[in-house]
Amino acid sequence: MGKPLSTLVFLLLFINCVYSWKKDEFRNCNQTPFCKRARSRKPGSCSLIAADVSISDGDLVAKLIPKESSQENPAKPLVLTISAYQDGVMRLKIDEDQTLAPPRKKRFEVPDVIVPEFLNKKLWLQRLKEERIEGGLVISSVVYLSEGYEGVIRHDPFEVFVRESGENGKKVLSLNSNGLFDFEQLKENKEDNEDWEEKFRTHTDKRPYGPQSISFDVSFYDADFPTKGPGVDDSEPYRLFNLDVFEYAHDSPFGLYGSVPFMTSHGKSRGSSGFFWLNAAEMQIDVFSPGWNNEYSSVLMLPTDQKRVDTLWMSEAGVVDAFFFIGPKPKDVVRQYTSVTGTSALPQSFAIAYHQCRWNYRDEEDVYNVDAKFDEHDIPYDVLWLDIEHTDGKRYFTWDKMLFPNPEEMQNKLAAKGRRMVTIVDPHIKRDESYYIHKEASEKGYYVKDSSGKDFDGWCWSGSSSYIDMVNPEIRSWWAEKFSYENYVGSTPSLYIWNDMNEPSVFNGPEVSMPRDALHHGDVEHRELHNAYGYYFHMATAEGLVKRNDGKDRPFVLSRAFFPGSQRYGAVWTGDNSADWDHLRVSVPMTLTLGLTGISFSGADIGGFFGNPDTELLVRWYQLGAYYPFFRGHAHHDTKRREPWLFGERNTELMREAIHIRYMLLPYFYTLFREANATGIPVIRPLWMEFPSDEKTFSNDEAFMVGNGLLVQGIYTQRAKHVSVYLPGDESWYDMKSGSAYKGRAIHKLEALEDSIPSFQRAGTIIPRKDRFRRSSTQMEYDPYTLVIALNSSKSAEGELYVDDGKTFEFQQGSYIHRRFTFSNGRLTSSNAGPATAGDHKYVSECTVERIILLGLSTQPKTALIEPENRKVDITWGPLLLRGGPGPSVLTIRKPNVRIADDWTIQIL
Ligand code: NOJ
Repeated sequence: MGKPLSTLVFLLLFINCVYSWKKDEFRNCNQTPFCKRARSRKPGSCSLIAADVSISDGDLVAKLIPKESSQENPAKPLVLTISAYQDGVMRLKIDEDQTLAPPRKKRFEVPDVIVPEFLNKKLWLQRLKEERIEGGLVISSVVYLSEGYEGVIRHDPFEVFVRESGENGKKVLSLNSNGLFDFEQLKENKEDNEDWEEKFRTHTDKRPYGPQSISFDVSFYDADFPTKGPGVDDSEPYRLFNLDVFEYAHDSPFGLYGSVPFMTSHGKSRGSSGFFWLNAAEMQIDVFSPGWNNEYSSVLMLPTDQKRVDTLWMSEAGVVDAFFFIGPKPKDVVRQYTSVTGTSALPQSFAIAYHQCRWNYRDEEDVYNVDAKFDEHDIPYDVLWLDIEHTDGKRYFTWDKMLFPNPEEMQNKLAAKGRRMVTIVDPHIKRDESYYIHKEASEKGYYVKDSSGKDFDGWCWSGSSSYIDMVNPEIRSWWAEKFSYENYVGSTPSLYIWNDMNEPSVFNGPEVSMPRDALHHGDVEHRELHNAYGYYFHMATAEGLVKRNDGKDRPFVLSRAFFPGSQRYGAVWTGDNSADWDHLRVSVPMTLTLGLTGISFSGADIGGFFGNPDTELLVRWYQLGAYYPFFRGHAHHDTKRREPWLFGERNTELMREAIHIRYMLLPYFYTLFREANATGIPVIRPLWMEFPSDEKTFSNDEAFMVGNGLLVQGIYTQRAKHVSVYLPGDESWYDMKSGSAYKGRAIHKLEALEDSIPSFQRAGTIIPRKDRFRRSSTQMEYDPYTLVIALNSSKSAEGELYVDDGKTFEFQQGSYIHRRFTFSNGRLTSSNAGPATAGDHKYVSECTVERIILLGLSTQPKTALIEPENRKVDITWGPLLLRGGPGPSVLTIRKPNVRIADDWTIQIL
């Protein structure tokens, strides 16, 4: 999404018409009846009150009924349920009353997103009290949520909120405080003059169930954000509708490939809170500017002593299944959100190294050449990718026999150097009777149906195609089997998968997607689950890769479409960006935002997919992309070849250097990926996540943190002479290359260097690295480590290292090494941060530490002593030798050769 994306956290993102984005092919809010209706409602127009409030099965339940329902028009109540879960999560469900006359249709609730462990965290609610204010007229029921917080339902008019404990406790988050709640219940029949069909361009949507949208306002208190970013089109809401948008622009609230209906707020005084609506239909979200509802303030009962950001959430279908996250720290909100939707999967270690992709590497010879050139130019890479042209006529799971006659041999040759391949598998299946996937899928009835019940037939890369109905678990399991080595002929254990076009993209469909009245398993209309289609496809593919090795190895699947929970199945990328500086810049807020929604493993196409980057842009993109969690170069087939050695020696050197930095930092990245896997906290973070009370960080999305230890500032302009970097916090920062110290809480104007973008290690942290360069990450497995200690003002620091086999699920049984390093009083100590005993599955490593660099010592120590052996080790005092520029003298402890698996202490004397 647009600029201070750092704060606004639902996904789907920008567009405008700078390039050839064909705006007219897509609907705006006014052309989307539910959006138009919701936006035209006036604050205070909701007439529902909460009645029959009681506690049942540990939940608070109530009926929502119109305040004035007449005999002729009796109220059809809605059922409201509030539940509480451990660690600061409140859930609110609102649906039609299923106990009344059998409903025409059950509204769709998204299955398979909430992780089972979350449901086990349910707390048994008790009504604490009923409060009466304003002379007894306003009644509220109050429940205990967690230490210091209560959930409240005000009865008339109905409002649900979380507040700090006590009658006068400050509000944190609320729903329907502006009285915009509206729930269109399914009707038995059309009323006179009602037209349920909707037309957009040449497409007609039959809408057999009529209008069924839901909308409501949500308010975030004591919040400075969310806001809509500067320059982002204000007339349109943020659109969450998974779409394949050709040549998207960088600064619009329009929908893109993935949607996560989750918003985080943040303010200096209270901190963060979050709101998540689990709903897979099209959603639109408005973020209002302060004062938008001033003329209605007399009819609304809004607190005047608290700063507030109001938002309006509108969805075409589904139910209300909403989660309130109390925070109060930014990391708490991510933890709370991922306790519901799951944390990100731990990737295999190769997957976090560099990937080389292009549409297309033409044939086996091209593959071998590219592979050889990386070695010739001493540039490491781990994965070579094959796009759609490698197949036999876009029939996925097949090979073009002329171009790729020996796929297994090709993969094995790469694997011998520790390298992998990725092939693309899309969800559109060529309607060709001789294609086995199509034959089976059509015979078994596994395709999505059109509104008349026939297999839906749409146009995509493979021409006339049908789409696998991934929502059905039986079909997912059939799909997963297609990845067995036996079924996927020509695949080997070093082959992994790329899922593309899974929004789903349908070239001749409405808005380049599937008609909303198409039908899925269980008679679910496509409109109800559109945003989750790609998620299910990703899920089924990842399950296939797990199954093919009997559940032993971790999968790697990259997906373009995403939804809450996608983090459990693999990586995503930001799709078809363009080779320009604006797209370079926006890649940071886009990947940061994904991280805030738990989808940590993401990145943008290095160099930009469309167009030819000039050399400077390409180099800057490598320098920035080296810090994306997912690091892949990719390009459209109409672009010029742009492998790193094609731009002259100096530029090869610069790109090599950028890729080397990533390889050097792989131990740090892997440790952070494990942190994301254990806690949900993303690998790269907006500055405000690490410095939540420093207002200067709130709208800064040009710089970001890698973990808690590294700050990276991109260079986003051509021929930049200088770059300004804001370094937050009270402690200093150390330039990663020179070791020079810079003051915190200050803007530094630095010379823009050709050979790197600014990156700083935060004082008080220890970063593990591997500094020997190899051809691939696999070849670095047994290499020794370097520890870089950046001392803070009390001359102390701490950091972690996580290591496992980088491949299997054994780590889930405790088979890993997790160390904590602490430096204080002149002693560096390594201690176990993992479980005390790891049982039979203990992961063993003989790796040692070969170098320790100490930044921030003012005087030269005499020696270093390893305990308990009392062994002296060599030290040197001088500028950083490792690719360093001129800088201060730092201490380097040489060859301490202590094992990373052991407890030890090194004393500096
Ligand atoms: C669209 C994807 O976004 C792009 O990365 C890919 O190269 C093309 N499809 C062709 O498969």
